[in-house]
Amino acid sequence: MVKIAPSILSADFSRLGDQVSQAIAAGAEYIHVDVMDGHFVPNLTVGPLVVEAVKPLTAAAGVTLDVHLMIEKPERLIPDFARAGADSITVHVETCPHLNRTMQQIKALGVQAGVTLNPATPLVTLEEILDEVDLVLIMSVNPGFGGQEYIPASSRRIARLRELLAERGLQHVEVEVDGGVGVHNAAQIVAAGATILVAGTAIFNSQASIAANLTALRAAAAG
Ligand code: DX5
Ligand code: ZN
Repeated sequence: MVKIAPSILSADFSRLGDQVSQAIAAGAEYIHVDVMDGHFVPNLTVGPLVVEAVKPLTAAAGVTLDVHLMIEKPERLIPDFARAGADSITVHVETCPHLNRTMQQIKALGVQAGVTLNPATPLVTLEEILDEVDLVLIMSVNPGFGGQEYIPASSRRIARLRELLAERGLQHVEVEVDGGVGVHNAAQIVAAGATILVAGTAIFNSQASIAANLTALRAAAAG
């Protein structure tokens, strides 16, 4: 069954704990934390402090705390995010000249290692690292902001990634998709090979409750 990863980027930060608790109660298997430094992407968001703040909630429920680093030189802060309680840390291939070493760094800390790439970055950049990762995150929007439209070419990339993983006997690697995911496209994204759906504005919005939105997304993903 596909796993749902609400992105707190779109949550109401004046009551973040409550919002995370609602998402967990509604069955979220992951909580996705979008870390942005204002350099690699134009936006500036949160750091290890927020990971530490929500960790008791995710740990108590056995929910994976999934940290997405949209930052320059992520190797400097990986220890801090691990110490704060990240269960999974994903870095951008565009920010890691020593990507193999960075994967080893994450895994040595007992944390799941993920790699991601921007929509215009060729999948071939992942070829030499697929054997080392626990997760690949496909960015289906240009990173930096929630509420953007899904880039249609992403579905072809998801399917191609699945093929690459199958060719290598790496079917266990999670394929997470991030950006513009909603009830309108969840089924096609899962059909293309996604196993984890990140969703920000589809979960945290004024149209319906977190529980209703998460339930609707899961139903849509089931096709
Ligand atoms: C964008 C972030 C995404 C974003 C998803 O840079 O990485 O996780 O929060 O938000 P929605 O689901 O609203 O596109
Ligand atoms: Zn993200």
